Amino acid sequence: MRESARAEDLLDWYDRHARVLPWRVGPAARRERVRPDPYRVWLSEIMLQQTTVAAVKAYFEKFTQRWPTVVDLANAEDADVMAAWAGLGYYARARNLLKCARVVRDDFGGVFPDTHEALIGLPGVGRYTAAAVAAIAFDRAEVVVDGNVERVMARLYDEHTPLPGAKGVLTEYAAGLTPEARPGDYAQAVMDLGATICTPKRPACGLCPWRRSCAAWEAGTAAVLPKKAPKKVKPVRFGIAYLARRIDGAVLLETRPDSGLLGGMLGWPGSDWIEGEPVESPPIRAEWKTLPGEARHTFTHFHLRLMVKTALVPMDRQPVRGVFVEKDAFSPSDLPTVMRKAFDLARG
Ligand code: ADE
Repeated sequence: MRESARAEDLLDWYDRHARVLPWRVGPAARRERVRPDPYRVWLSEIMLQQTTVAAVKAYFEKFTQRWPTVVDLANAEDADVMAAWAGLGYYARARNLLKCARVVRDDFGGVFPDTHEALIGLPGVGRYTAAAVAAIAFDRAEVVVDGNVERVMARLYDEHTPLPGAKGVLTEYAAGLTPEARPGDYAQAVMDLGATICTPKRPACGLCPWRRSCAAWEAGTAAVLPKKAPKKVKPVRFGIAYLARRIDGAVLLETRPDSGLLGGMLGWPGSDWIEGEPVESPPIRAEWKTLPGEARHTFTHFHLRLMVKTALVPMDRQPVRGVFVEKDAFSPSDLPTVMRKAFDLARG
C-alpha cells in the first residue's frame, strides 16, 4: 500500500472521529483556515508529557483562563505558577514552562517561533515537543513520535524489538508515513488512533482505519505489541515530614530548592529521603507526635514512604526552617501530591 494512501485513510477517519479537546482546532475548523494558537499548543504538549488527557484538561483550562497569552504567563509570579501546577507532577516541566515563556517574551517579542530548529532551542522543548508544536501549530511535516505513536507503529509493522531499543526503527516507520498534506491533523490523528482504537490493552482492531494494512492484525499479535524491556525494580526510600501548626492556624511550609525533586514546589519541611532509616530533622522545637500510618507515593525512580509528625506550637516560637503561612493563605491544592497525602493523613 502506498504510504500516502495510508495517511489519507487515517485523515478520513480523523475527519469523522477526532476527539474534541480544549487545546485543539478540529479538522472542520482547520478546513475553514482557523489556526491554532501556538501558546495553547505548546502549553498542552508540555502538560501532556507523562500525563493523561483526562488529568490535563482541568489544568489547561485553569492556566489559559488565568494566563491567556504567553506574555501573561511570562509575567506571572513563580510561586503562583508552581502552585497552579501542583498535582500534575514532573515539576521541572513547570519551571521550564516559565523559563520558556520568558524567553518567548524577551527574545521573540512574545511570538512563538515557527520552526523545529528554533523551537528546540527553547527551555523544556525537546525533540518531541518541537516536532509536535511545529506540526500542530504551524502545519509543518514533522515526525511526531510519542508513546502512542510508537505503539501504533510497532503494530502496523509487527515490530517485535523491545522498547526502548526499538525507538529508532519505530521513528523511521513514522517518518515514512508522515504526509506533506495536513501534517498537523495527521499528527493528532495518530495520537487519537493510539488513544481510542490502538490502545495498550484490548485494541479495538475491528474499528481501525488501518486494519487492512496492519501487519500485527494480520499476524494476530497486536495485543502483545509493543514489546518492552523489563522494568527495573524501584527501591523504597523513607523520610519524615513535619507538619507544624501554630495556635492561630498558620502552617509551617518551605519552598523546596529549585534543583532536585519537587524543585520550586511548596512542601512540609522534612528529612532527606533515603533507603535506610531517615534522620530526625525537626524544623522547629516542639512536642512532635508521630501519626499512625504513612504517606506513600511513587516517583519515577523510587517509592517513598513518609512518616508524618505533627505538632502544635505557640505564637512566639521561631522555626529553624520554613515560614509560617497564614491559615487563609494556605490551600492544600497548592501542594504537590506527596505533600498533600501527608496533609490528608494529618487531617484524618
Ligand atoms: N498527547 C500528546 N499530545 C497530544 C495532543 N495534542 N492531543 C491529544 N493527545 C496528546
